Amino acid sequence: MSLYRIVYCSESTGLDKHDIDQILETSDRNNSGVSVTGMLLFNAGFFLQLLEGKRAEISRTFSRIAGDTRHKNVELISAAPTTYRLFGSWSMNYVSITGNAGRLLKKYQVDASFNPYSLTDKGAESLCREFSELCLTDPGDLGSGVVSGQGEFYQ
Ligand SMILES: Cc1cc2nc3c(=O)[nH]c(=O)nc-3n(C[C@H](O)[C@H](O)[C@H](O)COP(=O)(O)O)c2cc1C
Repeated sequence: MSLYRIVYCSESTGLDKHDIDQILETSDRNNSGVSVTGMLLFNAGFFLQLLEGKRAEISRTFSRIAGDTRHKNVELISAAPTTYRLFGSWSMNYVSITGNAGRLLKKYQVDASFNPYSLTDKGAESLCREFSELCLTDPGDLGSGVVSGQGEFYQ
């Protein structure tokens, strides 16, 4: 199977908690069905999302996301084939970035308000990984949550 990973960032068009809940619910439902896994980081202003799965499914999913008016200025940070999943067991892991995340953001030279447009491809990937690890080990610290997929996906 041809496995693919993309990371993109975008600007929120001013969403409330209900909007975010809807996005996460839809992502969980759709991604589970097509074995797409990944991670969504966001704060009040920006999104950073990593998606991985079959190339065809990633293309279809990203096409829908890019046309969504709940965000704008969608910019691809990286898109490349891969041999393994970084987020093999989640249809969509998510972290809502709060002030406590400042230390980690600084490491990746992202400003405290979390503007992800300056991230490099490798930086964006490892930021997602580190947030996801923190999310599991110390979720209270990040104000984060995890949406579990229905079952575990392996390539
Ligand atoms: C920041 C952001 C991330 C999203 N992530 C996903 C996703 O991972 N998977 C998905 O299917 N839809 C995602 N969506 C929603 C899609 O844009 C679109 O509304 C949805 O896929 C439509 O699905 P439906 O036809 O089943 O309602 C996201 C939207 C936004 C704004």
